[in-house]
Amino acid sequence: MAERLIIFDTTLRDGVQSPGISLDVAEKLEIAEQLARLGVDYIEAGFPVASQGDFEAVEAIAQSVQGPVIAGLSRTHIADVDRCWDALKQAERGRIHVFISTSPSHMEHMLKMTPEQVIAETRQGVARAREHTDDVEFSPQDATRTPLDFMLEVLQAAVEAGATTLNIPDTVGYGIPWDFGALIQYIRREVKGDYITSTHCHNDLGLATANSLAGVQAGARQVEVCVNGLGERAGNAALEEVVMAVRIRGDQFPGIEVGVRTEELARTSRLVSRLTGYPVQYNKAVVGRNAFAHESGIHQHGVLAERSTYEIIDAADVGQTGSQIVLGKHSGRHAFKDTLEKMGLNVTGDALNAAFTRFKELADRKVQLTEADLEAIVAEEIGGARAVEFVFESLEVRGGTVAVPQAKVVVVRNGEKAEAIAEGDGMIDAACKAIKAATGVDGRLTDFNVSSVTGGVDALGDVIVQLEVEGVKVTGRGVSTDVVEASARAYLNAVNKVVQVRARNEARGRMTAITP
Ligand code: KIV
Ligand code: ZN
Repeated sequence: MAERLIIFDTTLRDGVQSPGISLDVAEKLEIAEQLARLGVDYIEAGFPVASQGDFEAVEAIAQSVQGPVIAGLSRTHIADVDRCWDALKQAERGRIHVFISTSPSHMEHMLKMTPEQVIAETRQGVARAREHTDDVEFSPQDATRTPLDFMLEVLQAAVEAGATTLNIPDTVGYGIPWDFGALIQYIRREVKGDYITSTHCHNDLGLATANSLAGVQAGARQVEVCVNGLGERAGNAALEEVVMAVRIRGDQFPGIEVGVRTEELARTSRLVSRLTGYPVQYNKAVVGRNAFAHESGIHQHGVLAERSTYEIIDAADVGQTGSQIVLGKHSGRHAFKDTLEKMGLNVTGDALNAAFTRFKELADRKVQLTEADLEAIVAEEIGGARAVEFVFESLEVRGGTVAVPQAKVVVVRNGEKAEAIAEGDGMIDAACKAIKAATGVDGRLTDFNVSSVTGGVDALGDVIVQLEVEGVKVTGRGVSTDVVEASARAYLNAVNKVVQVRARNEARGRMTAITP
């Protein structure tokens, strides 16, 4: 019988620890629902004790997402473990993931604990988690820089206290495939008990996928991964790469099956990219837009004659089917909703109304919209449907190579119009300055990315901005047939997020977030 390789997705926990990502509960839920559609086995939904926002997101995902087991991260403190379970308890099935650092550097400089204390903490945290659920994972943080004998002691203590999965984090991406594989093999041989071994590889040396696969070959039966390889610093092992490597090279992983519906990979990647504001590099394996593009004549000729000459993956198997035209300006609300449902996008209520209004506006300007366009509109409107401080009303710009670029922006706040006119270095700069003046929110634009949703001159422009205001970093996005308008919408979207984050922080008396 085939053995399952458990796909443990940590996009919503480790993935969102990438700088500048700030997702709210609705956005996290949207990603979690797509991960369930993709068929991952576990969703690590957050670190409930880190902040009230994290708690609420984990709780909302546990309450409504069906299929995958929902996991939450926790330190070993009893109060943390209890809080984690509080957020998870309504899930169909819930896992507590307990971690503590075990490397000399972390124990000395961060924990300020002796090895004996770390072992005692491990026992305490895992045992407490087992009082809540029989699915408990334990991670010795910075495992690859932890002396082996000590790590074995800690892992054995965790198993004795009730851990059912032992996750081996290469926290700083220090591992080399054969060395990491040997580590997994050694642990499996030396640590006694009934548990599943897991890998958690970071990509500081660009080896996260290779190390994860080496771990699987050595006996690990869970891999911790993030969509698009998101995560701290250089990121985590990319879900799409690990899954496709095991699928395509089944000869190297005999008897191992992966439950993921790979046709959902491209859509999942696009959704995560839009909501996090992290673009996917064009030549990214599996999900990059060039992953199936052939430039050289010889390659094109070969692929046209027989796809397998230069492609090891069928684009359709990972959902890279290109853009089909789906709707136009004559399409009504019913057709719109129906198409979204067929695409697996479950949008209802205010979000549906907002998305439909936006669709109509865009369909009036662009003849036909594709699936990718609809995804972009829906992603923009998931946030737009909630009460926002400033609603975009209109934009007028003047510019070119002679006139000084100028923009007039009108926004609506509590039913009142606020408008401002500003000049800038270009029309986009002028539009952003006008928004600053109209809203009174003065931020620093730290990143700006514009791409087209599909090809062609009438393609929708998709703009993602990162804005920093008094230490709060947020991303905003906007789509339009006009890139200046898309930029203004993205900027205003970010301004609205800043206002929301400020309001939340004020309500919570400025809690400091904890990150692992
Ligand atoms: O990289 C790491 O060590 C982690 C742990 C919390 C599992 O993310
Ligand atoms: Zn990590």
